[in-house]
Amino acid sequence: MIPQDFIDQLLSRVDIVDVVDRYVPLKKAGQNYMACCPFHKEKSPSFTVSPTKQFYHCFGCGAHGSAIGFVMEYQGLPFVDAVKNLAEGIGLQVPQERAANPEASRAAREKQLSLESALSQAAAYYKQQLKSAVNAISYLKGRGLTGEIAARFGLGYAPGDWQNLQAVFSEYLNPALLESGLVIEAEDTGRRYDRFRDRVMFPIRNQRGAIIGFGGRVLGKGEPKYLNSPETPLFEKGRELYGLYEARQAIRHANAVLVVEGYMDVVALAQYGVEYAVATLGTATTGEHVRKLLRHADQVYFCFDGDKAGQKAAWRALENCLPQLVDGKALHFLFLPQEHDPDSYIREHGRDAFEAALREQSIPLSAYFTRELTASVDLSSPEGRAELIKQAKPLLDQIAAPMLGYIIKKRLAELAQMEVDEIDMLMGHSRPERKGRREYRLPRESTRPASTPIMRKQIRDVLMNPEWALAIQIRENEIYEGEMAALVAIIERVQASEQLPSCAVLAEGFRHTEHESIIDSVLQDSQLRSEEFINPNELDRENFMLGFDKLMDRYDDELVSTLSNKGYEHLSQEELQLLRTLLARRMRPTPAS
Ligand code: UTP
Ligand code: MN
Repeated sequence: MIPQDFIDQLLSRVDIVDVVDRYVPLKKAGQNYMACCPFHKEKSPSFTVSPTKQFYHCFGCGAHGSAIGFVMEYQGLPFVDAVKNLAEGIGLQVPQERAANPEASRAAREKQLSLESALSQAAAYYKQQLKSAVNAISYLKGRGLTGEIAARFGLGYAPGDWQNLQAVFSEYLNPALLESGLVIEAEDTGRRYDRFRDRVMFPIRNQRGAIIGFGGRVLGKGEPKYLNSPETPLFEKGRELYGLYEARQAIRHANAVLVVEGYMDVVALAQYGVEYAVATLGTATTGEHVRKLLRHADQVYFCFDGDKAGQKAAWRALENCLPQLVDGKALHFLFLPQEHDPDSYIREHGRDAFEAALREQSIPLSAYFTRELTASVDLSSPEGRAELIKQAKPLLDQIAAPMLGYIIKKRLAELAQMEVDEIDMLMGHSRPERKGRREYRLPRESTRPASTPIMRKQIRDVLMNPEWALAIQIRENEIYEGEMAALVAIIERVQASEQLPSCAVLAEGFRHTEHESIIDSVLQDSQLRSEEFINPNELDRENFMLGFDKLMDRYDDELVSTLSNKGYEHLSQEELQLLRTLLARRMRPTPAS
């Protein structure tokens, strides 16, 4: 972890105008600077850099961020590397793990290095072993793989003995072998043995190219077909994607990424020239996966197996995509014929047919969404149409991209023979569960204060004009959730800062926190107006202040009615206490409002 105060310091020392101008020549336009957006194709400039906010935003595609974010996006660097890059440019040294406990973080770093080193030694060994493993070579050949592609993905072979790795490591009892998942310790005897035996080995790399785990396939039939490294400090399956490191350049070049289910799919696709494919690691596609992918490309294609499991995986992926959707980026789903997976399909039909299918037969997320939801209901009856809206409701609530969300809602409204406003009214009282910092959460079944455009506008306003937060009084002893929690957290952050933070400092301050995605999606909003990048006037400020009080009142009212509707006898101690506080507040006028 890089200390937050270093990030703040860095952002106050670099000038985003210089940083961007190095890569994308900027032209002054009023208070801001403009250029054609480097993140999407355009003819007239809508990419804006604000020196006062130290923030960039593209009004065309919604790309946005601080100087750090720009370097991450533009150079494709992970956060820490982008920070280092910027710090070097101005002669600042990134403090090494000046965390609360420097001992602990040094130990963590050393642990990481020792695990990475164990895994890379093992990978080199497996690779070496493949050269003389006749059966493994003939298995891979039998599946149509070339030596060239095997080398490119660093494929290897783990021999059949129980303790092969003794030949590699001077200390087979080295803790790193156990912690990296390379060996298993028998529970009863404590004896160690290799996890991977008689398997073709697929090394899994992280974004830096370091090996963090393996997938091992049996030669032919056998259970389990694939054995994977366990989750370790280096390897989190919900974040990592097989082949992303190898595919990086091709993804950038195609501005597209293809997500498949299997190791073999990735390798076979690459062999046939479809080099921008990655695979999830035997898990569902997570929101984190999607976020990562959308940072690399504007078009994401999912192509899962043609079987039932593949269909299910696709729907899971869709669900996890909704909160990550961004206007200006598109997700598509390709469903293969039942008997195929991408590997078998491309081998049978070739690259051109595969890419043609991808382009012409894949369906956009919006169409897949409505197709699935309408498949199981009878739209000719009012009951069926009500059922449609009921099922769509929790999903629609999660869609982060405002425009796409609206368009999908409109389509559903048509199908249900309703107006969008009517759906909104019916939906007004529900929101997805979101992780909150505060201990106490509203119970799942109760209705919660809704997310509204006003709430998003308030968040945007305070990010753009942090000084407005100084005059706000936050009401104590409340539960804030979702967008409201984000808004309150931003205000508290401004109020706690010694120096007034810029928009960039605020946005970076919430990176890696539960509010990150809300803030990100608010700033992504393509409805952001260019005037908001210019200093606002007094009227805007007054509107913000009034809006905030109204919002708080309404938030309180909704909490009160939620809790009262539950019936007093069903309330927990905490809920009762909260209700009392809220009602008492209602009795006397608060000084702030
Ligand atoms: P599949 O069963 O679809 O296999 O599993 P596949 O990728 O087509 O493999 P081949 O072509 O038979 O070699 C898809 C993915 O699910 C995970 C692996 O990541 C695999 O690539 N998986 C599958 C496991 O982790 N363990 C298993 O036993 C099976
Ligand atoms: Mn397969």
